[in-house]
Amino acid sequence: MVRVLTGVQSSGIPHLGNILGAISPAIELSNQYESLFFIADLHALTTVKNPQLLKENTLATAAAWLAFGLDTNKNILYRQSDIPEVTELMWYLNCVTPYPMLANAHSFKDKSNRLSDVNAGLFTYPVLMAADIILYDATIVPVGKDQLQHLEITRDISKSFNHIFGETFIIPESKTHKNNMIIPGTDGQKMSKSYNNCINILNSEKLLKKEIMSIITDSKGLEESKNPDTCNIFQIYKLIGTDLQVEQMQKKYIAGGFGYGHAKNALLTLILEKYKNQRQRFNQLMKNPALIESELEKGAKKAKKIASSVMKRVKNKLGLMRT
Ligand code: ADP
Ligand code: TRP
Repeated sequence: MVRVLTGVQSSGIPHLGNILGAISPAIELSNQYESLFFIADLHALTTVKNPQLLKENTLATAAAWLAFGLDTNKNILYRQSDIPEVTELMWYLNCVTPYPMLANAHSFKDKSNRLSDVNAGLFTYPVLMAADIILYDATIVPVGKDQLQHLEITRDISKSFNHIFGETFIIPESKTHKNNMIIPGTDGQKMSKSYNNCINILNSEKLLKKEIMSIITDSKGLEESKNPDTCNIFQIYKLIGTDLQVEQMQKKYIAGGFGYGHAKNALLTLILEKYKNQRQRFNQLMKNPALIESELEKGAKKAKKIASSVMKRVKNKLGLMRT
C-alpha cells in the first residue's frame, strides 16, 4: 500500500518555497496515490502567538492546497489540531526519542540561533512531526530538502519504537521534488516564514511587488554585465520560467543594459501570469471561509478513522489498554 502524507505549517500564507517544495509535488502524487495533506497548526504555535492570525493562516493554507488543485473527494485535507491523537502519540514517541538526536537537529540549531523565543516546542518539533506521519501509516512523505533530517528522525523514532515494542509502525520514505533544492528567499537564504524573506505568490499584487522589490542584489549599475548565477532574482526566476524564458533572461543579464529593477519587474510579470488561475481561486476561497471549514471538517472525519485505528494498535503495544 502506498499512502502519501505531508503538512505545511500555518505560520503564514504558503509562499513560493512551500508551493514548489511541498504543495505542487504533493498534489502531483495525489493523482496517483491515496494522500493525506494537513495544515500543521500545532507546529505553527511554536512561532505564532496571535490566535486571530493563526486562524487566518490556517484558512489561507487550506485555501492554497485547494487553489493548487487538491481534490478533496479523492484525498484528505485536514487540520492537524482536529485530530488530538497526534499529541498523545507524540508523548509516547518522546519516551523512545534520545535527547541528543533532538539537540543535534539542524533545524533546531538554526531556529534557536535566529529566533528570540526558543521554546521547548521548537525542540520537540521533530517528535510531533514523526507522530504526524506514523499516526496515519504514511509510506511516502513529499517534503522540501530542508525537512530531510526531520524525516530521518521520524524513521529513527519509528524504528526505535518497533524495536522496543514490536512491529507497530510503517517506516516512511521521504520524497523531494525533482530539482531537490531549497528555494531561496529575497535574501538568498532558505525562503521561510520564520525568516521574513518570502515571496508570497498568493498575496495581493501590491504586497507581492513589495516583496519582489526587496530582493537583495549587488550594486552593479544598469549598463554593466551581470552574473545571473549569483543573482537572487534570477535564482527565483529560473525556478518558474520556461526554458526559453530563462535562456532569454540569462542573455539579458550578460549583455548589460538590463538593470535589477527590470529583472524584478520581469519576475513579477512571470509570477502573475504563471499563477493567475491559482491566485484567482485562492481569493475566491478566502472570501468564503465557511466553504474552507466544511472541506476541513470532511477531511477530519476521514483522518480520524485512520488515526483511531493506529492508536488502538499503539496503546495495545504500550500496555495502556484496559483489560
Ligand atoms: P516555513 O519554513 O516557511 O515555515 P514550512 O516549514 O511550513 O515552511 O514548510 C512546509 C513545506 O514546504 C515543507 O515540506 C518544506 O520542506 C517546504 N519548504 C519550505 N520552505 C522551503 C524552501 N525554501 N525550499 C523548498 N521547500 C521548502
Ligand atoms: N515541519 C514541516 C515543515 O516545516 C511541516 C510538517 C509538520 C510536516 N509535520 C509534517 C511535513 C509531517 C511533512 C510531514 O516544513
